[in-house]
Amino acid sequence: MPQADPLDYTKRIPYEVLARLRAESPVWRAPSGVWLFSRFDDVQAATKDIESFKSSFREPGVAVPEEEQLISEIAEPRHGKIRRIVNSAIAAHRLGRVEPFARELCADNLQKIIARGGGELMDEYVMPLPTSVIATLLGVPASDFGLWGQWSGDVVQGDYPTKNRSERGEGFTGAHPEFAAYVDRQIRERRSASEPPDDFVTRLIRTEVDGESLSDVEIRMLMVFLLVAGNETTRNLIGNLLVTMGQDESLFRRLQGDPDLIPIAVEESLRLDPPTAVLLRDCIRDTEVRGVPIRAGEKVAFGIASANRDESHYDEPDRFRLDRPDPKHHLAFGGGPHVCPGSVLARLEARVAVEVFLESVVEMKLKPGYLREKVPVFWANGPSRLPVALAARVPA
Ligand code: HEM
Repeated sequence: MPQADPLDYTKRIPYEVLARLRAESPVWRAPSGVWLFSRFDDVQAATKDIESFKSSFREPGVAVPEEEQLISEIAEPRHGKIRRIVNSAIAAHRLGRVEPFARELCADNLQKIIARGGGELMDEYVMPLPTSVIATLLGVPASDFGLWGQWSGDVVQGDYPTKNRSERGEGFTGAHPEFAAYVDRQIRERRSASEPPDDFVTRLIRTEVDGESLSDVEIRMLMVFLLVAGNETTRNLIGNLLVTMGQDESLFRRLQGDPDLIPIAVEESLRLDPPTAVLLRDCIRDTEVRGVPIRAGEKVAFGIASANRDESHYDEPDRFRLDRPDPKHHLAFGGGPHVCPGSVLARLEARVAVEVFLESVVEMKLKPGYLREKVPVFWANGPSRLPVALAARVPA
């Protein structure tokens, strides 16, 4: 079943093959050498097993200095300490500030699209939202939001961001020197200001972990990770749900008639089309899963997209349903100590984007012949484009 190789999900996720793997070979070695866990219980247990599996976006054998590690790669107990800083930075923005900002941005952008009778929703409606929210959270001026969106896309395009590390002589952020220089400037400005703004970068500069400040490189690594983690994933969540609504008029009408169902639709979209289809890990000690030996040094993929359709956890796993007993029962945000700290923000953004859309649009028509093409990145799952015609809802 070579098409189930998780490193090959650049065009599509082979759901029918994954169903066979769950039934016949739930711990399976793909042709690329990567182990794929396809069942819910195994993926969930593995996200918690940080003694055996360590997050890695890198090719086997590629090691980087500690300060260049991404937050998802940092081992405990240091990870927990840095994680608290990230949690508090995100929480600071939960307090009612994001929602009105997000609502206004969505309404403005949508009005422009509606005035033209339609447009490209991914670029014009969806992407500006997570980019602006994350940039605001990190303290980036509004005039630079566009640049951030572009950089985020550039960084995500690589399958393994550090693949050409030796050629470039740079790390993850080095994949985008302009971005690295920008962040370094932000750090310098705050270090030299007598009253730096109360934002994420200032928080990071002032924070000590184990009695030591974070270095500029560590701060930069956190910024780039947050930028990518918060942007592409949320973009894909909103895009997936809008495509589903565009393809299923009865769902569109149901959500329009009963907006209280929107948060449930967001969860069901996260389950059925998780924005992060697979999580890559390095096995760091010899272990066994379902009796299958996995050796230290081997690559492992946690099959989120497969686990979320595991028939032993869901009735009609391939159907979009709004009546599941526990809508949040899915692994779209991972699990264990590295579980996504941005889930509240992502859910809020998706709910607001869909609410504003349904408040303003009476009819959405996908461009004739539209096919849901996936973004060409193996771990990411979202539509690359969404061209639509829209008709405005006449205010009562
Ligand atoms: C729909 C949107 C999102 C999805 C599906 C998503 C998914 C995930 C997943 C699956 C992980 C676990 C990674 C792993 O175990 O290797 C993760 C981690 C992370 N996410 Fe999200 N995420 C989303 C939005 C966000 C947002 C909005 C932010 C920031 C504001 C964010 C920041 C992070 C960070 C910093 C981590 C690393 C946590 C750690 O290693 O401790 N994410 N996300």
